[in-house]
Amino acid sequence: MKRVLTGITPSGIPHLGNYAGAIRPAIEASQASNTDAFYFLADYHALVKCEDAARVAQSRLQVAATWLAAGLDADKVTFYRQSDIVEIPELCWLLTCLTPKGLMNRAHAYKASVDDNEAKGLDPDHGVNMGLFSYPILMAADILIFKANVVPVGRDQIQHLEMARDIAQRFNHMYGQDDAMFVLPYEQIAEHVATLPGLDGRKMSKSYDNTIPLFEGTEADLKNAIQRIVTDSRQPGEPKDPDTSHLYTIFQAFASAKESADFAQELREGLGWGAAKERLFEQVNEQIAPMRERYHELIAQPQIIEDVLQAGAQKARKITTPFMQSIRRAVGLRPATQSVQAKADTASTAAADKTHRWVSFKEDDGFYIRLLDPQGETVFLSTPFAAPKEMGQAMRALQNGEFELQQSGTQRNVVVAEQIIATLTTDQAQQVAQYCFKGNV
Ligand code: TRP
Repeated sequence: MKRVLTGITPSGIPHLGNYAGAIRPAIEASQASNTDAFYFLADYHALVKCEDAARVAQSRLQVAATWLAAGLDADKVTFYRQSDIVEIPELCWLLTCLTPKGLMNRAHAYKASVDDNEAKGLDPDHGVNMGLFSYPILMAADILIFKANVVPVGRDQIQHLEMARDIAQRFNHMYGQDDAMFVLPYEQIAEHVATLPGLDGRKMSKSYDNTIPLFEGTEADLKNAIQRIVTDSRQPGEPKDPDTSHLYTIFQAFASAKESADFAQELREGLGWGAAKERLFEQVNEQIAPMRERYHELIAQPQIIEDVLQAGAQKARKITTPFMQSIRRAVGLRPATQSVQAKADTASTAAADKTHRWVSFKEDDGFYIRLLDPQGETVFLSTPFAAPKEMGQAMRALQNGEFELQQSGTQRNVVVAEQIIATLTTDQAQQVAQYCFKGNV
């Protein structure tokens, strides 16, 4: 199972181009059975560029409603707001402390602002806040706290993923033992998604003010926008080249190959632009009308959206809360009772030995061994042993450190006398290593 994670910055109202180019493909990808998808509203990132509180609030609502109305299944994927996961800014700080400033100096978004200022003869850092400067560190925290393997993003985000890997490796090197704390994430660039032209033929974008609305407004608003798409002056009856027509490009993003071929044929045969726009409207509207209705229902009942996002946050925090605990421990933010362990790591494990405990117990299906951490929390549970004798042998081996942690995919097997007696997450393995070995795993 690969873990796929991506952030959606809630800035502005999603338009038709966002839908075809990002929302729809992401929702389709989230439905694959071999993916464990995490989609979140990057609202802390939105604050970097927007100081208008009312707009931030509204945009969070509209973007969440858009994704839900477009078919995101919040039961299958984990859908949450970045700002509901307290571990994200917490990790962001820890990462900030080990990220070289020089690395951030090279970030494209920051450099673009500096270049822009210099071109205008302004102070290089004019208008640059620390949020913009440190943006890639927050993004690294978003990704690393969930151990995401794959991050679907646009090309403009490739550098951010490189930085996330760089930061993760630094952390693993400084604080991980042999066992890496953070998984290195890789970007996934969608090659075949549609880029829609806007009303003026340039790429549809809020910054060009040439967008066609997705769910906001009414059917009539969609129709009006489509009527404003630029065409040439060819009259009805004159043949038109579909390949140079923006109408046709948009049509294709909402039609089957057969429907597109038919439409292309009609254009070649002289379909008038007015009629072609009518056809385009019908085609797009047929698909989005039910979603638009759902969108307006959701916007009218924000409590539903809030509940979905809260449930998502709860699901997400099942992962981030325990992981953050081991991250804190790794950097030395430990309970007072474990404060001396920093020395013990290099000198002796005596202090650590006193703190963890192995226990055994019987269940209906056999005898189990459990490792407890100093707080008495279960670190891991073994598979059941048929007989107490077997269990006893394994227990002695474990207590004497006569076992191995063998890598198996992203997990680690606890192997005693060539037998796998437990399979651990990286997190659990990290703890086992900390309690049971003198040095590295
Ligand atoms: N920076 C991303 C963008 O502008 C949004 C984002 C924030 C993100 N955090 C992320 C994307 C984590 C992927 C993973 O598109």
